[in-house]
Amino acid sequence: MGNETHLWWQRGIIYQIYPRSYQDSNGDGVGDLNGIIQRLDYLQQLGVDAIWLSPIYPSPMADFGYDVADYTDVHPLFGSLADLDRLLAEAHARGLKIILDFVPNHSSDEHPWFLDARSSRTSAKRDWYIWRDPKPDGSAPNNWLSYFGGSAWEYDEASGQYYLHLFHKKQPDLNWRNPALKQAIYDSMRFWMERGVDGFRVDVIWLMIKDAQFRDNPPNPDVPAGMETSSASQLQIYTSDQPEVFDLVGDIRDILDGYSERVLVGEIYLPIHRLMAYYGSARGGCHMPYNFQLIQLPWDAEVIGRTVADYEAALPAHGWPNWVLGNHDQPRIASRVGDAQARVAQMLLLTLRGTPTMYYGDELGMRNVEIPQHLVQDPQGINMPGTSRDPERSPMQWDASPNAGFSAVAPWLPLPADYAAHSVAAEQGDPRSMLTLVRRLIALRRASPALSVGSYAPLVGSGDVLAYVREADGVRLAVALNLGNQAQVVPLGAAGRVLLSTHLDREGEATDGTISLRPAEGVIVAL
Ligand code: NOJ
Repeated sequence: MGNETHLWWQRGIIYQIYPRSYQDSNGDGVGDLNGIIQRLDYLQQLGVDAIWLSPIYPSPMADFGYDVADYTDVHPLFGSLADLDRLLAEAHARGLKIILDFVPNHSSDEHPWFLDARSSRTSAKRDWYIWRDPKPDGSAPNNWLSYFGGSAWEYDEASGQYYLHLFHKKQPDLNWRNPALKQAIYDSMRFWMERGVDGFRVDVIWLMIKDAQFRDNPPNPDVPAGMETSSASQLQIYTSDQPEVFDLVGDIRDILDGYSERVLVGEIYLPIHRLMAYYGSARGGCHMPYNFQLIQLPWDAEVIGRTVADYEAALPAHGWPNWVLGNHDQPRIASRVGDAQARVAQMLLLTLRGTPTMYYGDELGMRNVEIPQHLVQDPQGINMPGTSRDPERSPMQWDASPNAGFSAVAPWLPLPADYAAHSVAAEQGDPRSMLTLVRRLIALRRASPALSVGSYAPLVGSGDVLAYVREADGVRLAVALNLGNQAQVVPLGAAGRVLLSTHLDREGEATDGTISLRPAEGVIVAL
């Protein structure tokens, strides 16, 4: 089972860029496409295969680009369509793929479609959005809440109806029961496929269609802290994961299948047994319904080991696995588990079976950058103090120069005081740095079919140790990870040789059937 029997997105590694925060090329404090082009050599040397860009479309930026005002253009802040074409050409010349974020659940309230829809009840586009009459007492049509806090309904004085917005009130939900709306969005997806984009990460794909009867959601008995006013305080029975969604996913998959080797990734926060339905059955589904288990689980070897087993067991025969450690909506891994365990976490991500998605800056061990409430920019954090996502969106730390080599001017979000120590410039010359570790892990994965496409078999999942074997073409690699802070001795069943340790200091060491792990150490052993 060599690498060549699998598609690029199965063999490969996806690297997420939050474009506002990667590289500013024109001195406005916000990252842009030309900045990303300048950094393609870095990404090629890192060894990733594909870049997923968070939204780059024209947008009033109420949710930093997830409020799209034009589905077929580029925001001037980020550049132009010509810049995007150049990014595609430059990336492809280096063997890198480009995946765009696509946001079909909602548009901006400044999208011409919504301006038209809002202009009158008889507008031809009125039904492209979700409008309902008030209850007799004038209140909202039902109890649905927004992910960003408060009612999911906004009253429109002029037309006397409410419109639905599962996120910000500047992000009205599109009505996926309207055939003309569907065709308009599908046309814009084809527009990007024709331009040579290699796939989509589809935003909140599991929310795209809602209960036709608009029934109230029941309360959630287990409300996460700080989320009392948000949709998380209700069970999303009628606003998510509706049976009709699979037809939409199938349509989108058909569009991508009209082109060669494009990938469909779906953002889906659901338990494993529900997630699997998004691989498709009667109709095609997502190639990769995002698997957020590693983001949501406690850092506990037994829990993670059990979950990997459950996930592997639940995958349909045609389902290719994937793993994600962080993204622009979640606290950074180094802040969640600490600097030492963040190294173990990278080894886990890059040795599990399935496509890994890395989040920019995690390869440096970047941490959350806390921001005082009065400076918070994220709408979620403004509406619900304590839940801001700004901390994980801080600028990429390139070097020790002012503004970390990110920009000539003060960046849109602050840098941490110690950015120089956790920068590319500092870490690339350091043989024990996180960046060196991640580069070595990626190189090993690329060179080894056992790691990139091989089988997975659990070895140990008890106490603080998680261990497994990856195997292909007769090559067997054991991975042993110490998720705790005590030394451990792990039986591997056979003698072998250490290929890599998260401490980067015992390569080549012979092992005799067991491996000794220091606190927070992970190793890969050729058996
Ligand atoms: C999920 C995106 O990842 C998040 O950043 C955004 O706020 C919501 N969807 C709404 O588009």
